[in-house]
Amino acid sequence: MKDKPRGEGGVTAIRYDFSNNRNMCAVSCGQILLDPMVAAQVTSTYVDWLNDTEVNAYLEVRHHRQTIDGAMAYVAAKIAEPHTCLFAAYENGRFIGTAKLDSFRPYHGTAMVAFMFGEKSVWGRGLGSQMVMAACHFGFQRIGLRKINAGCYGRNIASHKLLEKCGFSLEGCQTDQVMTKDGPDDVLIFGLLASAYPHASFPAAFADAN
Ligand SMILES: CC(C)(COP(=O)(O)OP(=O)(O)OC[C@H]1O[C@@H](n2cnc3c(N)ncnc32)[C@H](O)[C@@H]1OP(=O)(O)O)[C@@H](O)C(=O)NCCC(=O)NCCS
Repeated sequence: MKDKPRGEGGVTAIRYDFSNNRNMCAVSCGQILLDPMVAAQVTSTYVDWLNDTEVNAYLEVRHHRQTIDGAMAYVAAKIAEPHTCLFAAYENGRFIGTAKLDSFRPYHGTAMVAFMFGEKSVWGRGLGSQMVMAACHFGFQRIGLRKINAGCYGRNIASHKLLEKCGFSLEGCQTDQVMTKDGPDDVLIFGLLASAYPHASFPAAFADAN
């Protein structure tokens, strides 16, 4: 069968390179630096983020009280997973949140991106979009993903707008899929094809550390 170029539903030269510690490296976009996360970053501040009801309002971590030991075990397990890329997000050297690529499907060339700023003071400044663009840049350029997906609760307007700003398209809606303190909510499914990246609203400069 003839290979189709990217963007026409086919795959030519995809390389899923998780070798060399999953090919992890630092990647930056605008003011955000994503650095591979290490267990030492699990401090009481990090755990407080996870337990903050504003931060976790639309995150699954809200269902259980988070502890240092539990968070440490979670982060260590994610770091050990061969196909999960967990990043710490920094602005001017300050640790402000995390981004993750996981649910990697090698036969399809897809993964899911997830993101969170625990430092609420940075919300609304456009940094979330930079964080997700940096993670997508890593997924497409370093791993060779064909498509990246994301899911967010219908009421999570910031997340919804952020994903659209990053070029994601709304692909589906799971009606009343989850329960929140305000009642049932939809889960919106988004997707971004490598062929649609980078697009006009991406900052011109991305930088890998190596
Ligand atoms: C989701 C999150 C990362 C957004 O980060 P952020 O830095 O505030 O996002 P940005 O500033 O890049 O905003 C992206 C877009 O959303 C809009 N937006 C942000 N917060 C909004 C809000 N509360 N209501 C409406 N629009 C909002 C912004 O205006 C921007 O659009 P614009 O450039 O057209 O103005 C941050 O709110 C967060 O960490 N929340 C808690 C964890 C979470 O919910 N993670 C996502 C799970 S799916």
